[in-house]
Amino acid sequence: MNKKIEIKNLTVNYGTKDVIHKLNLDIYQNEVLAIIGPANSGKSSLLRSLNRMMDFHPTAKVSGDIKLDGESIYIDEDSTFLRRRIGMVSPLPVGLPMSIRENVTYAPRMAGCKDQKELDFIMEDCLKKAALWDEVKDRLDGLATKLSGGQQQRLTIARALSHHPEVLCLDEFSIAIDPVTTMKIEAVLHELKKNMTIVMVTNVINQAKRLGDRTAMMLHGSILDLDDNEKLFNGVVKDQRTKEYIEGLFG
Ligand SMILES: Nc1ncnc2c1ncn2[C@@H]1O[C@H](COP(=O)(O)OP(=O)(O)O)[C@@H](O)[C@H]1O
Ligand SMILES: [Mg+2]
Repeated sequence: MNKKIEIKNLTVNYGTKDVIHKLNLDIYQNEVLAIIGPANSGKSSLLRSLNRMMDFHPTAKVSGDIKLDGESIYIDEDSTFLRRRIGMVSPLPVGLPMSIRENVTYAPRMAGCKDQKELDFIMEDCLKKAALWDEVKDRLDGLATKLSGGQQQRLTIARALSHHPEVLCLDEFSIAIDPVTTMKIEAVLHELKKNMTIVMVTNVINQAKRLGDRTAMMLHGSILDLDDNEKLFNGVVKDQRTKEYIEGLFG
């Protein structure tokens, strides 16, 4: 299998606090990798390291190396292009305080696209892929901040898609939305996976089970277990704590 991302010896700390310690992980092209584990395990820090969002954190220090398609993500000083290739959807989405249309076309406009037809096409395409089009097509010029939580979550997915990312990272996307919307987004991810690699942090074990090809279990900044879902969720684990976490005994 093609390695899309190779993480070697990743160490992350905030000030003096080590939150990820010498972590190694390969992520394959077109897989959905689910990352589970109790709060404070370092899941979000790992995700944020992938597209160098940590560069903007005042006390965070990241060492080790991460390769995307075989090339270090640190090769360019500027990480803007990297963040187009690796998109991020945060747990509590916020629509930018502008219209739905402007939200989804923000990235292409910043990239210099001025052709209204093309912008409309990108907007419709991304909103359809994010399963939001039908709900907003009649109010595209309305404020994005007026949308419901679940709609804003899908809007952030549409916005991430407007960059044509190769990798989509999602951090606990269903934390603030209802089950019906969650199912809609899960269906979206299932479809998107055909053309991209998805890394999904989730606190819902069944979500990892449903959506992941593989699942990694994190605890205290390390990966305890990582395997195909058929194995991991059928009791084949290296560390007993993985089994206990899956069975809901802690976390
Ligand atoms: N901005 C930050 N400043 C200082 N410590 C942080 C920061 N963000 C996270 N941490 C600490 O890093 C550890 C891992 O956090 P995080 O990556 O958010 O884990 P998870 O996503 O698994 O809950 C936790 O102990 C948390 O308190
Ligand atoms: Mg987190």
